[in-house]
Amino acid sequence: MTFTSGAELADPLAELLGDNAIDAAIAVAHPNIALVKYWGKRDESYLLPVTGSLSMTLDIYPTTTAVRVSAEPADTVELNGRPAVGEAYTRVARFLDLVRERAGRDEHAVVVSSNAGPTGAGLASSASGFAALAVAAAAAYGLDADARALSRLARRGSGSACRSLFGGFAVWHAGEGDGEAGDVSSYAEPIDGDALDPALVVAVVDDEAKAISSREAMRRTCDTSPFYLPWADASRIDLDEMRKAVARRDLPAVGEIAERNALGMHASMLLARPSVRYLSPRSVALLDRVLALRANGIAAFATMDAGPNVKVLCARADEQRVIAALREGGDVADIQLAHLGPGAALVTDGPR
Ligand code: DP6
Repeated sequence: MTFTSGAELADPLAELLGDNAIDAAIAVAHPNIALVKYWGKRDESYLLPVTGSLSMTLDIYPTTTAVRVSAEPADTVELNGRPAVGEAYTRVARFLDLVRERAGRDEHAVVVSSNAGPTGAGLASSASGFAALAVAAAAAYGLDADARALSRLARRGSGSACRSLFGGFAVWHAGEGDGEAGDVSSYAEPIDGDALDPALVVAVVDDEAKAISSREAMRRTCDTSPFYLPWADASRIDLDEMRKAVARRDLPAVGEIAERNALGMHASMLLARPSVRYLSPRSVALLDRVLALRANGIAAFATMDAGPNVKVLCARADEQRVIAALREGGDVADIQLAHLGPGAALVTDGPR
């Protein structure tokens, strides 16, 4: 794990720690985008996936999270400048319970977190969010955890967060068994793929929070879609082939597998009862542009998560042509260019 300078910290977060802070830490984590998706849990309470997945961590949209152990009677949580309430608060407080249990401590904490990117819009804010929280909270409570233990911990906050512990490409092993047995065997680890060094062009169609959470959509797909098991079976093969394609630096193969895996996931959601549809007409128009790029000889491939935004994988040499093609038509709210990013890291030592 690398440590970056505290000088980069946003002021409000640094202020939270104060001059004499003890048992406090700040961490930064980046979102990751799965090229072979995690969609479906075999154990809802331990967040154990049905299938393994593979992702790239991005260098955009970091989450910065500060945690200070406090004498207050309850946890306080601020997300993007506002007090967290309802489900958002409960997820953080439950997560802190896990950290406290492992650290053998019972004090509450003050948590302040901010996302540089859109929150809850299918742009992996829960992945960067829980990865940053896992690293900061473990340090603040003095939990002795290695990268694998932190990955398992982050998984309990949001499954995909276990992959954001690592920079570059990461594989999340599904693991075996449920409950505690599943818990120890289901973690992410980095895989060598840095030489592939692709670009990921993020076409933001809509940065509003989605109407249906990925957690609910995933549950509904697993429980009701006749396409779910066929997708999961195909996804195991996709993961195998994807690992080989990454290892041989075969970008067209990586892109082809990523695109079919994502389309299959969305197809399985469409057949859930009731149906879940994240893709909008604008998303589909972007998929057409990706097809047109390929027809013109550019290896560009799309992937979509729990939202209408489309991410296009391509070689760095083609990134500007891809950006220009996605901008055509003017129906994209924003375009962001991402490359491989770093793993989650502390920006302050804790406890001090
Ligand atoms: C479509 O990790 O957000 O982005 O574990 O319920 O918190 P929970 O779900 P979450 O789901 C991510 C789903 C996805 C695919 C992926 O990232 O692999």
